Amino acid sequence: MKFYQSGPLKGEIAVPGDKSISHRSVMFGSIARGTTEITGFLQGADCLSTISCFRKMGVEIENTPDAVLVHGRGLHGLTAPESVLDCGNSGTTTRLISGILAGQTFSCTLTGDASIQKRPMKRIMEPLGMMGAQIRSVNDNSCAPLAITGSPLHGIHYHSKVASAQVKSSILLAGLYADGKTQVTEPALSRNHTEIMLRFFGADVTSEGCTASILPAEELYGQKITVPGDISSASYFIAAALLVPGSELLIKNVGINPTRDGILRVCKAMGADIALQSAVYDRGEPVADLLVRHSSLKATEISGELIPTLIDEIPVIAVMACAASGTTVIRDAAELKVKESNRIRTVVDNLKAMGAHIEETDDGMVIEGGYPLHGGLIESHLDHRIAMSFAIASLIAEGETTIQNADCVNISYPSFYEDLERLKH
Ligand code: S3P
Repeated sequence: MKFYQSGPLKGEIAVPGDKSISHRSVMFGSIARGTTEITGFLQGADCLSTISCFRKMGVEIENTPDAVLVHGRGLHGLTAPESVLDCGNSGTTTRLISGILAGQTFSCTLTGDASIQKRPMKRIMEPLGMMGAQIRSVNDNSCAPLAITGSPLHGIHYHSKVASAQVKSSILLAGLYADGKTQVTEPALSRNHTEIMLRFFGADVTSEGCTASILPAEELYGQKITVPGDISSASYFIAAALLVPGSELLIKNVGINPTRDGILRVCKAMGADIALQSAVYDRGEPVADLLVRHSSLKATEISGELIPTLIDEIPVIAVMACAASGTTVIRDAAELKVKESNRIRTVVDNLKAMGAHIEETDDGMVIEGGYPLHGGLIESHLDHRIAMSFAIASLIAEGETTIQNADCVNISYPSFYEDLERLKH
């Protein structure tokens, strides 16, 4: 797909529903009693993989234009799937579902696409194994396909080496089926949508600092859920408005949970003009409209506890750093290497192809800003966030930018290119 430098972006945009919250609403709805009604559900390929997995386990899920209705089967009502559960490209589906499957009374196998089959699963196999789960990597390489045989589970206190909401959530979900309290302590707080939403479904979940605890549940109860716009999807429009002179965008209804809003804090540190409007809480999740105006940006340093709050936004932050004055340093972000692609490598290689002054480090990157970008050949590596980040980079690059396999945006934002086009003036 070809892209060109753009004039100002103007107008209003409502980005699709939050991916993390959409996954969780279907998962928790499936193991709850009664119907869960979800509005604003993200109709991206990843979340559709979650729906398809639970349908295979006997859950009736109606996906209508108005709402997704999940007719939950209760905590012990899932049935053995007749075929392999296909998680597609979705790490969230693979890791969270594993926690649920660990506590069932049947066996099944789950797998996914080529990228999923390379992503590390030891991080969930180890703690779930400590809880008594029988979970085996079919190819003995600590990756999917995973064969899981449901077993009686016991509570543990797990100290995770990585700040990962997928790891934390997998363990907490297994904890619903355990014989005692389950706790997870992580090195920095990762997104807490599981803790917030499970509480509304009736689970006994508490959080203190970087430790989340859950008690075994008798039953969860179906809920009404309104999914806020995804701040990760909004980040592309935030960056576009900040980068392209003359731009002003109102991005409506964005989830600004503090465990996800690192992009806003970084933009502020870079001197961005972003105003929050109409902020409200909806079932524990803060939501606001963001008014973003073109700004001249300055470099910043990003590390430590901030990293998990913006982990998926680092590719587009790197693009912004190219236009900022000074040198931006991103550290403590080794997790980027095990995302849908090695995002340190794919960001650095692609930005170099556009003329950026950027170097890869062991756990991040160093970007010397202020050198104009030019068009280039961009390989998305079938990674949706790489494709979207470079569509934004093209807006300020001279000449033509070609993004290969650009349609991988279907994973999290099927209408991304149409929405971007509509805002160009
Ligand atoms: C997610 C957690 C993050 C994030 C992913 C979605 C979630 O992954 O990168 O896009 O929904 O829990 P990790 O938990 O592996 O950091």
